[in-house]
Amino acid sequence: MTSDTATGAVVLVGCGRLGSAILEGWLTTSTVAPADLIILTPSSKPAADQAQRQGASINPDLSELARSRVVVLAVKPAMWRAALEPLLPHLAPDALIVSVMAGVKSADIASLSARTVARVMPTTAVAQASGVAALWSSDAIAADAARTLFAPLADVVDLEAEDQMDAATAVAGSAPAFIYAFVAALAQAGTGQGLSEEAATRLARGALKSAGSGAGTGEALDILIARIASPGGTTRAGLDAMAEDGGLTRAAEAAVNAAVERARSL
Ligand SMILES: NC(=O)c1ccc[n+]([C@@H]2O[C@H](COP(=O)([O-])OP(=O)(O)OC[C@H]3O[C@@H](n4cnc5c(N)ncnc54)[C@H](OP(=O)(O)O)[C@@H]3O)[C@@H](O)[C@H]2O)c1
Repeated sequence: MTSDTATGAVVLVGCGRLGSAILEGWLTTSTVAPADLIILTPSSKPAADQAQRQGASINPDLSELARSRVVVLAVKPAMWRAALEPLLPHLAPDALIVSVMAGVKSADIASLSARTVARVMPTTAVAQASGVAALWSSDAIAADAARTLFAPLADVVDLEAEDQMDAATAVAGSAPAFIYAFVAALAQAGTGQGLSEEAATRLARGALKSAGSGAGTGEALDILIARIASPGGTTRAGLDAMAEDGGLTRAAEAAVNAAVERARSL
């Protein structure tokens, strides 16, 4: 890390889909020097192996955790107590905990660990340093440490309250899957209008990429839409059809509400 936490190690607990994506992002952006990385993973993972080749420690003796400054918890919500508890006696007393887990409250993590906690909800596009991440902490130092780790990988969006994290999880962490599902439905609709499956899928994926580059400009969504949908044109006809019976809004609300409910039940 390039900030005042540069002297401590970053401990990544869990190197699954999200943990690996974060690791790849850190290495490609040089956010964390490999020598300052400690990775704890029960099984071998390509991203961890790559980090180890560059100088990171994998599953070292727990005494190594004394040099920890930030611990990033990236295990499944059901596993976090079992993963964190054995590490606690070995961590630096002032180590900060950054949880990227859905649905686990910072008060629960703080209460078990007796340490300050920040929560971050990133998308796996952090691997390509093009993610988005919601961030919340009641503590400014923990928030800054989390921002230092994630800002090079993602557009970091500060939340006003922790209870907004579940909604942010639905609208960011889960949403790429919702959007892929919509793109698959678009391709399916294209085959209904005579396109081959291969052509429909390539066209719909290409449309997703085009939409992504538009979104990357930061322009307002209604301006991006207006640029494509001229009055009386084909796009406008499609947009009007999607809006007509509220079907699109209902589908989005159903997906977000169900994801929020699931996060709250974890
Ligand atoms: N995937 C996403 O897009 C996404 C987005 C936002 C937030 N999240 C959050 O990120 C967390 C991880 O999700 P995921 O999708 O990456 O799950 P995952 O692929 O199942 O990864 C979890 C990893 O935790 C490891 N693990 C289990 N016990 C451990 C322990 N005691 N110490 C260290 N590592 C341990 C597992 O190792 P083994 O593989 O060796 O069993 C596994 O690789 C979840 O809490 C989820 O809510 C995920």
